[in-house]
Amino acid sequence: MIIQPQIQGVVARNCHPFGCQAAVSKQIAKSLTQQSSSNALPKRVLILGASSGFGLASRIALSFGPAKADTIGVSFERGVSDKGIGSAGWYNNIFFHQAAEQEGLISTNIVGDAFSSETREQVAKAIKQDLGGLVDLVVYSLATGIRPNPETGEFWRSAIRPVGETVEGYSVNFEKNSLDMVSLPPATEQEIEETVKVMGGEDWLSWMQFLSERKLLSKGCETVAYSYIGPEHTHAIYHKGTLGLAKTHLHNTRDDINTLLENIEGNANIAVCKALVTKASVFIPGLTPYLLALYHVMKQKGLHEGCIEQMNRLFYDKWQNSSARDAEGLIRMDDWELRDDVQQEVNALLAEMNTENFTDVGDYQGVLGEFLQLNGFEFDSVDYSQDVDIEALKVLHP
Ligand code: NAD
Ligand code: NA
Repeated sequence: MIIQPQIQGVVARNCHPFGCQAAVSKQIAKSLTQQSSSNALPKRVLILGASSGFGLASRIALSFGPAKADTIGVSFERGVSDKGIGSAGWYNNIFFHQAAEQEGLISTNIVGDAFSSETREQVAKAIKQDLGGLVDLVVYSLATGIRPNPETGEFWRSAIRPVGETVEGYSVNFEKNSLDMVSLPPATEQEIEETVKVMGGEDWLSWMQFLSERKLLSKGCETVAYSYIGPEHTHAIYHKGTLGLAKTHLHNTRDDINTLLENIEGNANIAVCKALVTKASVFIPGLTPYLLALYHVMKQKGLHEGCIEQMNRLFYDKWQNSSARDAEGLIRMDDWELRDDVQQEVNALLAEMNTENFTDVGDYQGVLGEFLQLNGFEFDSVDYSQDVDIEALKVLHP
């Protein structure tokens, strides 16, 4: 089978397995050269949301960077079947595992619903069998639109909405190469509540409670969850909207987790990351024009980072550095994004951007390229005219 990208709006309907392998290899190469002066790096790590975006980059940075960590990765992905090639994260898991094994590292993949008790049990078993019974770090990097209510089995659904006002903003369409104006009405009380249920800190806390009860956390165990705040320009749709309220809940959950971990001298962290193209972020209306302008400006200034650069800088630079934390104790990985000179130039570009000129004013090719690469397309090292043997892929397992 010849695999060409099938894009619907902001969703990729397929992926290229060997392009996913190229994407993983490219990130690994960037962590192999990373240095660290710390002698307190985590050796046994659990990553929730390990198959793409910041979670995958965390896993690669920790395994292939100086920590040389053994990992368990949890994700929700689809394998190859007669219905389709499967999801990019499925292949990221497979090729991460192959590369880790070659380095002599332990890497266990658990593919299942991180919200279910079955998956929690599988993780507990894997920590005992594969990591000697303890983890030093738990990375919480789930991004999803739905979470089952454990009491009723019904789903909470997140809604990306402003709060208290209607907001208009452009949404990108990678299929038609267009920017479409969307008008978002304010969230209802229920939409706010459900978004906080899905993307707030409740599940993070519940994972830590589970791991703590089972005595699977080492002395001094750390945990980190990822957040976004962003500049004034995106506040109406993000920081002051439903997602921002969920993130505020996530930030507050740190206190509960710190209390929970007191007896083992553990510590909960929030890393506020920069805006990036991921499977999840392209869904946020109003954010894309900002991404187009931000990529343009940060690349011009030599400040652009992808997920792997952010995670290398997080674990091997900021983590040990107390001045990397703001007044609220948040680790600021968005420091370069929020620099005054960057934001001034971004605002100037946004002021002139419209549906006609966005491909010139902003870095549309760069953003589209990263979006396609998330799904294994657009790599020079891959020959996309080659036939992919589906039967051979069916034999591979994460
Ligand atoms: P992503 O979509 O690339 O990754 C999400 C991961 O969660 C995948 O591994 C997926 O398999 C997993 N997942 C989703 N539902 C699951 C389930 N039910 N069970 C098990 N696994 C499940 O997303 P991302 O952009 O890397 O987001 C990770 C975190 O980083 C989020 O909290 C997000 O808010 C935050 N963040 C993102 C950005 C950005 O610009 N993308 C910026 C700052 C912070
Ligand atoms: Na992730």
